[in-house]
Amino acid sequence: MSKTIAIDGPSASGKSSVSKGVAAELGFIYVDSGALYRGVTWQAVRKGVDVTNAEAVVNLLHDSDWDFFIQDGASTFSIDGDVPVQELREKEVRENVAHVAVIPEIRKFVVESLQSLEHFGSLVMEGRDIGTVVFPDSPYKFYLDADPEERAMRRYRELVAAGESEKAEEVMESLKKRDKIDSTRKVDPLTVAPGAQVIDSTSMSLEEVIQTVVNFVRAD
Ligand code: CDP
Ligand code: CDP
Repeated sequence: MSKTIAIDGPSASGKSSVSKGVAAELGFIYVDSGALYRGVTWQAVRKGVDVTNAEAVVNLLHDSDWDFFIQDGASTFSIDGDVPVQELREKEVRENVAHVAVIPEIRKFVVESLQSLEHFGSLVMEGRDIGTVVFPDSPYKFYLDADPEERAMRRYRELVAAGESEKAEEVMESLKKRDKIDSTRKVDPLTVAPGAQVIDSTSMSLEEVIQTVVNFVRAD
């Protein structure tokens, strides 16, 4: 029987690294739910649609053709025949995605699309509302957390490794701002799902977190 693992948590708590590691170890399909919000945003940006105009974004979605498929063990999608990957990380997308992610019709489309992926097989899905909204009945719900200072350091180290010249204090400020927006927004805020296993990874290695999730799922 196929299984769906839901992994939620704040920015830089390790969701994507842990989810990819768990998916590789268990042979499950990795799903980055944020990519769908980014996909809608990318489509709006390239079509010149104002992301603060919810009606226009929703109309554009209705006129767009999405197709989901599995590539290299991860779920991916095309929009009107194009497969955005690097494009989803562009600055314009990053800066506009928060507007798109609060539009209820867009969330409905993304949530239903994510739910439909179960027909591909067992999934490891990361996001903010996977255990609360997308798969609330999954017996495998995890909420990853870590102290804000540790999460900011993780992001800072990544930026430095990528050759960016950001200041540690700026990374901390930006992370705190994101935490606040994610947990106080009206639609599907970031909260611990009932029955979720909370993992505080402040002093755990990535491998230890992956093994904690894998052992929990295997023990069932
Ligand atoms: O997806 P999310 O924003 O939650 O986090 P991420 O992109 O996976 O980034 C977490 C960063 O912290 C990565 O560089 C990991 O290698 C590192 N890390 C971790 O994820 N978990 C730990 N227990 C320790 C470090
Ligand atoms: O990786 P990062 O934390 O930068 O963001 P992401 O996971 O790619 O998500 C992009 C945007 O979509 C963020 O503004 C999230 O708050 C939002 N999002 C969401 O509302 N619900 C999800 N399940 C996943 C992402």
